[in-house]
Order: sequence, then structure tokens, then C-alpha cells
Amino acid sequence: MIVTVDTWDLPWITMVAEGGRLVAPLRLHQYVWSIGFTKHDGALISEEPLTVCGFVPMQGAGAWEPNLRTIPGCGIRLAFEDGTPMPVDQLAPAFGMAPSTVRTHVTVGGEEPFDSLTLYLAGALPGFCRLSVDPDHDTGLVSPPPPHWPGAAMVRGRSLARLAHERIGDSENGNGAYEFVIHGYGPAGHLAATEMAEHVRHWQRNHRAAPCPHITVQPKDATGPTGAYTDGLHVFHKKHTRIKIDWPVIPGEAAPAALADVQDHEPCCPARSQSGRVATVPATADYWEPLWAGGRRYREVTSTEAAMLADHVGPGHGRPALDIGTGEGSLARHLPQLGYRTIGIDFAPSAIAAARNTQRGDGPAWHLMDFVSDDLSALPDAAYAIVTCRLVYRWIDDKAAFLDRVRQVLAPGGTFWVVTELAGRREEDDPYRHLGITPAEAEILTAGWSVVRTADLDVLRCYALRP
Ligand SMILES: C[S@@+](CC[C@H](N)C(=O)[O-])C[C@H]1O[C@@H](n2cnc3c(N)ncnc32)[C@H](O)[C@@H]1O
Repeated sequence: MIVTVDTWDLPWITMVAEGGRLVAPLRLHQYVWSIGFTKHDGALISEEPLTVCGFVPMQGAGAWEPNLRTIPGCGIRLAFEDGTPMPVDQLAPAFGMAPSTVRTHVTVGGEEPFDSLTLYLAGALPGFCRLSVDPDHDTGLVSPPPPHWPGAAMVRGRSLARLAHERIGDSENGNGAYEFVIHGYGPAGHLAATEMAEHVRHWQRNHRAAPCPHITVQPKDATGPTGAYTDGLHVFHKKHTRIKIDWPVIPGEAAPAALADVQDHEPCCPARSQSGRVATVPATADYWEPLWAGGRRYREVTSTEAAMLADHVGPGHGRPALDIGTGEGSLARHLPQLGYRTIGIDFAPSAIAAARNTQRGDGPAWHLMDFVSDDLSALPDAAYAIVTCRLVYRWIDDKAAFLDRVRQVLAPGGTFWVVTELAGRREEDDPYRHLGITPAEAEILTAGWSVVRTADLDVLRCYALRP
């Protein structure tokens, strides 16, 4: 079966015989690839190179919904063709200030295709969209505007990051040499740009050298072992099918991430430290919400980590425990098992919803709350025997003020349990290297407690702190 019309979905999947072939120009987030599939166990499988192509668009019932939104007052349009369309009005002020630029040190030739990068970013980044500028209303805020086709972008609350490139020199074939750079707009623009840049470097290091991604298309209602991928990253939900893209890991040349950090340019963000490390940019609820809503999850609590927690905090005997920045409740769920009457708080509504949805039987109570700015008297107990905070401290802007608030809610003789990554524990070119806290931030954390105990867990350090 050969489809010669640009199509957003593959409703013909059930008509292809086992072992049969289907070739179609398939749209994923507005990019169109000619893909050859073979039917195997009810799924269409492709493990062959893709070609970007252009065909006449499908019309009628099979026409796609571009989900185009215009940011008021600046002529900038965002298309959410796959994934969940997001509100965009809140982004208008983001384009009132100069963007922050994060260099990737990943290069590309003038006429060299980089379609695999855009397909990778479309699947890796919740809130992914395509950015274009309406030439009739262009106010020059996105400079230069994406040439030819809408550019890859992602929304993070009131901030946005977009993929751009800068000419860095000449090439032998005369087409020039370019570097991918990410422009970040809005209060968490630098953070969003850093996140996107990490993914560009990750693609460079692991996937760019792969000849093609592996694509599996299943009928939407498929079940069974291969029907397990209903959600998550690199899964695209269509009307009749769901499409999963697996990226083979073929080690490529790593981009010099350390150098990139030092040369990042962040006009609208706090200055970096002398070590060249990216300064902490406050990650607000606006930043976290689309990550949770888009399916991003964080590392699970292993049995080793759970045992460390139990060793350091001891049995609860019905006393209250508070988990700050609980997310989906990975850590909070372990506390009732130790006998603590537990509450998990987070300021991202989708995180709290995910915690509630994954709850089986009795467990913690979940509250939507900003621990940094909300009134602490909104908490159900005045003091907590233990306060926990896992993979959160790094993101707190004013760490001293945060710790003061923790002390306010910690009962006398209680324990503050913190799990955080330490800087310098990953390889130099690891894209997540910046997640660690610096020695100075660790010093702020541990100062002023009468008991400080620590336990190490690969890149993480666990702290048990007592007043
Ligand atoms: C990396 S996630 C970690 C989630 C969870 N603790 C875990 O270990 O899986 C960080 C979480 O902290 C939350 N967070 C950050 N600052 C917060 C604040 N001021 N108040 C409440 N939650 C916050 C974010 O919404 C996000 O869910």
C-alpha cells in the first residue's frame, strides 16, 4: 500500500496483511517523513532510513488539526499539531526582553539535513511545538525568524525555548558551518534553553550517528506486551494509532558541554558563579507543570534508597511527616510504610494529580502548595517529626530562606531528610551534569544543624539533618 498524500495518521493499518508493506508520508508535529513500514504482529514496524518529503495535504475527515495559537501582540505563532495544545497568552511578556542564548557546540553544515534532531526533540520535550512568525505582524522579536519552515520550540509556562543556529565559519563545500544555539525567552528562559540544549547534546552523543530511529505503529486500542506504551516520551497519539519512536544508541562525538556552559549568554538571568556553573534560575510552578503534564518522570526510589531513609528517620509511630516537592510521591509513599502520617505537597497541579492517580489503597494525603511562598499555616499540622525533600533543593532559588521555612515546620528533635545530586559526580560530557549542587550550596544546606549525617548513592547524596 502506497499513500501519496500527506497524512497525519495511518488508519489503513488494519488493512495491511502480515508481512505486507505500507509506505506513507507521515506527519509528526508538522514534519513530514516518507516512511516504509512492514506489518509484524499487528504493528507497522520501520527500521529503515526516513526521507523528509512534501505532498499535497489530506483533506476531509483525515485532515489534521494544526492547533495553531498566536501569542498576542507579536505575530508569533505556535503549532501544537501532536501532543497537548498549551495556553500561549501568558507568553506575551516573554518577548519583551532580549533572549538568553545557550550554545550547544553541536555543529551542522549549511545544507546538511538535521531532521532526525527535530524528530528527536519533538518526542523528548513535553510542550514541544513549532514556532513561526507571521510576516504581516512581525515585530522583530524573534531574530532571526525561523527560515523556510516553522522552528522547533517548547513552552515552559511563561517561558519558551527555541532551536536556532548561528554561522560559525566557512566550509569546504562553500555552504558554511553552523552551530545549534537555543534562545530562551521569559523568566525561566535560560532554564528552558538549557534543558533543550542538553537534549541537543544528548542526541549528538547518542543518536546522531544512528542511521534511523525505529518506529512502531499500533492500532490505538492495541493491548498486550507491545501495547504497553500508552504514554510517555517519544509516543505520539493519533486518532487511529499510536506511534512510538525508539532511538538506537550509537555513540557519537560528544559536544564539549563544559565549554558550552562557560560560554552561555544569559542577559535576563542572575550572573553565573566564577566556576562558570550555570546559576540557579528559579524554577516556578509554571516551569514544572508542563513537564508533569507532558509525562516527564524522575528517578524512582530504589530499595537501597528506601532502606537508607528507614535507617536514618526510624519508625513513625503515627507522627506527622511532610514531603516537600513531592512530585508523583516517589518518596512520600515510603513514609506511611514506616508508620508516618504523611502529607506530600507540590506546586504543580499535574504532579499532585499524578500522585493521586497512582495511589493504591491508603497512602499519603496530597496538597497543592508552594512551600516557598504560601502561608505555612495552611499545612494540616503545625510541626512535623520528619520533613523530606528529594531532588528539589537544587531548584530552590533562595536556599537560606527555604531552609528557614523548613526549620519553622520541623518539630524539635525532628529530622530533615534531603536527597540531592552533588556536582562533579558525572562525566564531563553528561548532559545532566548541571543537576548537582555545588560545595557552597551543600555548605548552606548543612550549616546550623546540630547533627549532620550523610549517605551516598551513586550521583546522589542523602542528608539527615537535626536541629
Ligand atoms: C525533580 S522533581 C522531584 C519530585 C519528587 N520529589 C521525586 O523525587 O520524584 C521536583 C519537584 O519539586 C516541585 N517543587 C519545586 N519547588 C517547589 C515549591 N516551592 N513548592 C512546592 N513544590 C515545589 C516541582 O513541582 C517538582 O514536582
